Amino acid sequence: MELVMFTAMDGLAAQVEQFGDVAVLAPSRLDQVTRLLEGTRPPEALYLDDTRAAPLPELWRAATLARRVGVRVLVNFPGAARGALNDAQGAGLPAIAERDPAAVAVWLGEQLGLHANAGLSRGAVVAVGAAKGGIGKTFATCVLAEGLRRRGLRVLVWDSDISNPGLVPAFRIPSSAPSYLHLIQRGPAHWGPGGIAPFIFQPDHTRATGNGWGAVDFLIGSHAVARAENDVRLPDWQGFYQGVAALEGYDLVLVDTPPDYLRRPYATHVLQVGGSVVLPCPPGARERMGVGHLLDHLRDHAPDSLERCALLFMEPERGVTATVGEVASLFTRRYPQVASIGTLPRAPRLASLADEHDGYVSMLDLGPHSAFAAAVHQVGADLCTRLGLTPRLPMPHSSLWERMGARMRGDRPVALSTPAVA
Ligand SMILES: Nc1ncnc2c1ncn2[C@@H]1O[C@H](COP(=O)(O)OP(=O)(O)O)[C@@H](O)[C@H]1O
Ligand SMILES: [Mg+2]
Repeated sequence: MELVMFTAMDGLAAQVEQFGDVAVLAPSRLDQVTRLLEGTRPPEALYLDDTRAAPLPELWRAATLARRVGVRVLVNFPGAARGALNDAQGAGLPAIAERDPAAVAVWLGEQLGLHANAGLSRGAVVAVGAAKGGIGKTFATCVLAEGLRRRGLRVLVWDSDISNPGLVPAFRIPSSAPSYLHLIQRGPAHWGPGGIAPFIFQPDHTRATGNGWGAVDFLIGSHAVARAENDVRLPDWQGFYQGVAALEGYDLVLVDTPPDYLRRPYATHVLQVGGSVVLPCPPGARERMGVGHLLDHLRDHAPDSLERCALLFMEPERGVTATVGEVASLFTRRYPQVASIGTLPRAPRLASLADEHDGYVSMLDLGPHSAFAAAVHQVGADLCTRLGLTPRLPMPHSSLWERMGARMRGDRPVALSTPAVA
């Protein structure tokens, strides 16, 4: 249905749009509302409130005009027009006096018979965890999100490592993107899915496309290294998590977590409440020790959920003597319940091209036929299987010619089927 909303309430139109089957127009001036009502195709419904400080007689005039042309009218007078509430109800208009946008959205949904997006399941939640910085959490989050998007999945990336916001530069998130840290400061009453929705950032370059690709959307924490006053207490993070996990419209929520897992055991919490954990694992001695520490922590705090943890091996940089194969068998012996979802090859050239690029570009588009892209898709497919997700699009395919071309450009001389172990 088409709904015209005349309101200045923060995020209200966006929240109503979260319902399926409704197109919202939100003009900022009352004469624009009038023009829509007098047009050849008036909307089905009009919502008016007094938050734009329009004079009451003009609000009435718009409401009267709407009714005359057969448009349903709903009013909300929490402010200056509150005194007219009885009159509105007396005139047979559905009317409330409510200041909380989330509550107004719910009321509008009930009144107009809108239902939360049908058919969209609640996403699986996957925390990308590590006990050490710089091991590739953010890197893995980025390429997995882009890979799954190419399979038609809708991914929400939640930047929860506010000490080191690597997602912001990686996805070229502009400083105008909202920060959910402000929402956390507003308190638990605002952490429902309706409250969170307006804080979700949807970059143009990762929107769903006509060829069936899904979107990658973001919950961004801070744009620079977080300041102390923005620190998030663990109970607050956990409360906010509930709202994020209840968001509709995503197949998958990927949580980029901080390395201080004792103070911020985010991955542990995700596991405890039924989500999954992916642990990027470069084979170097310190890195695998860090992975071991986190796995021990997870085993201590969620002993029955370890099978929802998976290792993602990261091919080491040149010169590292430990191999993925050796380290993998080491982990299998020590943590038999923990599976592997594959290995990401090193792709320094693609990573560098993406970093140096003027504007955002995915490594998967820079090297669509590279062994790196093939591995990302294989890892994504394994992850989907483990999560019980069914991608809407088939796995991207490369012909032999295309793979050879990629090889000649230096996008890694590794065949598709062999494990990418040095
Ligand atoms: N497979 C890879 N190919 C090329 N570069 C990689 C690969 N994996 C990780 N890197 C690089 O290593 C660094 C890892 O950092 P990051 O993902 O920010 O780690 P974390 O989030 O764990 O702190 C990044 O600069 C990334 O570009
Ligand atoms: Mg990071």
